[in-house]
Amino acid sequence: RIYDIAVIAGDGIGKEVMPEGIRVLEASARRHGFTLRQKWHDFAHCDYYARRGRMMPENWKEEIGKPAAIFFGAVGWPDIVPDHISLWGSLLQFRREYDQYVNLRPVKLMEGVPCPLAGRKPGDIDFWVIRENTEGEYSAIGGRMFEGTEREMVMQETVMTRKGVDRILKFAFDLARTRPRKLVTSATKSNGIAITMPYWDERVAEMASSYPDVSWNKFHIDILTANFVLKPQIFDVVVGSNLFGDILSDLGPACAGTIGIAPSGNINPEGEHPSLFEPVHGSAPDIAGQNLANPIGQIWSAAMMLDHLGEKQAAADIMRAIEMVLKEPSLRTRDLGGSADTQTCGKAIAVLLS
Ligand code: NAI
Ligand code: MG
Repeated sequence: RIYDIAVIAGDGIGKEVMPEGIRVLEASARRHGFTLRQKWHDFAHCDYYARRGRMMPENWKEEIGKPAAIFFGAVGWPDIVPDHISLWGSLLQFRREYDQYVNLRPVKLMEGVPCPLAGRKPGDIDFWVIRENTEGEYSAIGGRMFEGTEREMVMQETVMTRKGVDRILKFAFDLARTRPRKLVTSATKSNGIAITMPYWDERVAEMASSYPDVSWNKFHIDILTANFVLKPQIFDVVVGSNLFGDILSDLGPACAGTIGIAPSGNINPEGEHPSLFEPVHGSAPDIAGQNLANPIGQIWSAAMMLDHLGEKQAAADIMRAIEMVLKEPSLRTRDLGGSADTQTCGKAIAVLLS
């Protein structure tokens, strides 16, 4: 088994946590007998922008070629490039051009990570948030009228296509099918948003009918967010439109205290295009260059990438190693009350795999 991986470290702590992600991937490859062919790309970072006036070369798609996956650090250095330019010029290009219509984030409470919800133990919180990543509320359809007058108005349309809704729901039901509880929860608001959201609900019911072995329920987004905090134990796979999924995919990891170590996948499930795996966090200019960054978000993203590539056992082993290192204060980084630097933490995880 040989996998071609495009590696893009990006800015700030992206450049510090990426080598730890690679260290762990290499240890995992040695142990499980597969090969990762890495191609590092020196673009999609703000120094590139400073030199060239753009985030990526015009022919970036050719440069990247057809890797099995893209392993990404973090992008953004607001002193050089405004954030909307660095993000739109790099990460959002990948998401769109590669039709990465699934944004996938685990929400898992782990020992050694302080949980902001009182009284929760590891095992209580273990679910996935799936966000639709290409349509919905984030459309470019709309505009302003009568600007500067009393009749001034703005509007922006929500776009839901059958293809777009069905494919994200299918991903959710397929994922639920692989899990012990086999439960899909749909985020809706069909009481207030009375055209698009009833359509979403209809498509959920329709999709559910092809999955007799998977149970499902739905909550309006307001009570759903409350339940993330009040009853996180009731969730297994939670699926939402672009806007609802955006909110839930930050709230979920925050409830498990993991926003600093959480990973994410931007996935094109059919494999027509590469999927991209990256930590949830950004480039952290406040701690960059000090070897303080927690590499676990990058390493957990590596585990998600291997899982996506079909290396399930390798992915599970990385997760076990992460869980062991999180229990040990001398191996945790300072953001989790430990004393380790970035490399100490990364090496500790890699050693457990060798
Ligand atoms: P951030 O995630 O970079 O930092 C927020 C806070 O969390 C900071 O105090 C930082 O020190 C801490 N933190 C983040 N990751 C950490 C880690 N691995 N270990 C220890 N502490 C960590 O978010 P912020 O400050 O809003 O954004 C900074 C830059 O990152 C901006 O340019 C922004 O656009 C970019 N960004 C990029 C993302 C991406 O590449 N996907 C995602 C979020 C932000
Ligand atoms: Mg967000």
